[in-house]
Amino acid sequence: MAAKPVQIAEPKGKLGVLIPGMGAVATTFIAGVEAIRRHLAEPIGSLTQMGTIRLGKRTDKRTPRIQDFVPLAKLDDLVFGGWDIFKDNTYEAAVKAGVLERTLVDPIKPFLSRIRPMPAVFEQKFVKNLHGEHVKKGRTKMHLAEQLMDDIDKFRKRNNAARLVMIWCGSTEIFLEHRPVHASLAAFEKGLKENSPDIAPSMIYAYAALRSGVPFANGAPNLTTDIPAMLELAGQKRVPLCGKDYKTGQTLMKTIIAPGLKARLIGLRGWFSTNILGNRDGEVLDDPDSFRTKEESKLSVLEYILQPELYPQLYKGFCHKVRINYYPPRGDNKEGWDNLDIFGWLGYPMQIKIDFLCRDSILAAPIVLDLVLFMDLAQRCPELARRGIQEWLSFYFKSPMCAPKLYPEHDLFIQLMKLKNTLRYLRGEELITHLGLEYYD
Ligand SMILES: NC(=O)c1ccc[n+]([C@@H]2O[C@H](COP(=O)([O-])OP(=O)(O)OC[C@H]3O[C@@H](n4cnc5c(N)ncnc54)[C@H](O)[C@@H]3O)[C@@H](O)[C@H]2O)c1
Repeated sequence: MAAKPVQIAEPKGKLGVLIPGMGAVATTFIAGVEAIRRHLAEPIGSLTQMGTIRLGKRTDKRTPRIQDFVPLAKLDDLVFGGWDIFKDNTYEAAVKAGVLERTLVDPIKPFLSRIRPMPAVFEQKFVKNLHGEHVKKGRTKMHLAEQLMDDIDKFRKRNNAARLVMIWCGSTEIFLEHRPVHASLAAFEKGLKENSPDIAPSMIYAYAALRSGVPFANGAPNLTTDIPAMLELAGQKRVPLCGKDYKTGQTLMKTIIAPGLKARLIGLRGWFSTNILGNRDGEVLDDPDSFRTKEESKLSVLEYILQPELYPQLYKGFCHKVRINYYPPRGDNKEGWDNLDIFGWLGYPMQIKIDFLCRDSILAAPIVLDLVLFMDLAQRCPELARRGIQEWLSFYFKSPMCAPKLYPEHDLFIQLMKLKNTLRYLRGEELITHLGLEYYD
């Protein structure tokens, strides 16, 4: 039975997109949106722009586009800003990142050149391979947070933005573990005032966003929002939160292939993944402490999908290794190799080899766009916003955030079903169970 639609405010006015970290992913996203707005290119890979959703029975033939089904902000209403430790404007940063061809970037140079990063909150201890030059100064981390809140406020006014979303596209920070300073909002705020060494720059941005009532999406594997202090603040302010680590490249492939193997009860002895990439992200990940953060995020995926505790004959003790090698000649065009040692009927071994010539930022940019638009939708929908974590956006992440008592859902196809059922729920449409017995009555 269909239910009543859930209350969602209309997306009136400009939507400001605030991005800490204006490197390869951020510039590919911003330049891409502008190119699409000028009809120079298509929004390939974006569910909000190209995806459809089936409603009702298969015989009803109701399949609207997602953007016509739920009230999303229009691309024309997006305005962009952000922070970086380098002064390059978005045009210069896009050219340096080298993801997009000059033939695409040059015609929109005046637009891109106007977007200049604000000075960043940065501490080199957390990203060892970068040296910041365009960085804020403050006596305490609380003072830095206040400067960010001031930036947010000024950006909102300058651009006449009705709403804002912050999305982290900054570098991967070193591996951090939960500390007492993360355990509650009071402890965190005390830590900000006392310059706690356990508070990373990304946490200061997230704190500033949530305090300002701005939803925050975490595109890196950093601990940032996975701490009780942030969940408490998001709950208090009723602001949406999601993360973490955009699901692109090799992990995207893993979450496509592993559910297929498991569906057919094919066993796995080992999965070895190695990559070469030469962009700044690769340079940052060349530091073992930053790589550890990424590794944790990449490794958990298979365990959760394959559930060895339920299928010990198939998956108990499988070997999973992930390597990332910084290799400058490749730039952003990375190459990822996977070797899977699998086994079938009666235990007979087989192998799968994957060679993915991938463009990381090309895969990440539509994710950024969808997250911005869906997080804005969540912000306008009290039923979603009051819940803080937006687990229905797991589809986009390598390590999806979920309620502390749950395990994350990694299977891409379950994630997509969850996302679409959430949209159906919002509009009072029947959820799709795929039972379908009624077609045979
Ligand atoms: N490209 C992908 O497919 C992909 C997938 C998943 C996650 N990610 C993550 O997204 C992030 C961005 O990736 P990228 O390829 O654009 O990297 P990039 O190195 O090109 O861009 C990151 C930018 O962040 C800036 N930065 C670092 N610390 C900062 C701070 N404290 N404040 C403001 N700016 C800061 C850097 O100067 C750099 O310009 C990385 O954390 C990466 O791990 C990327």
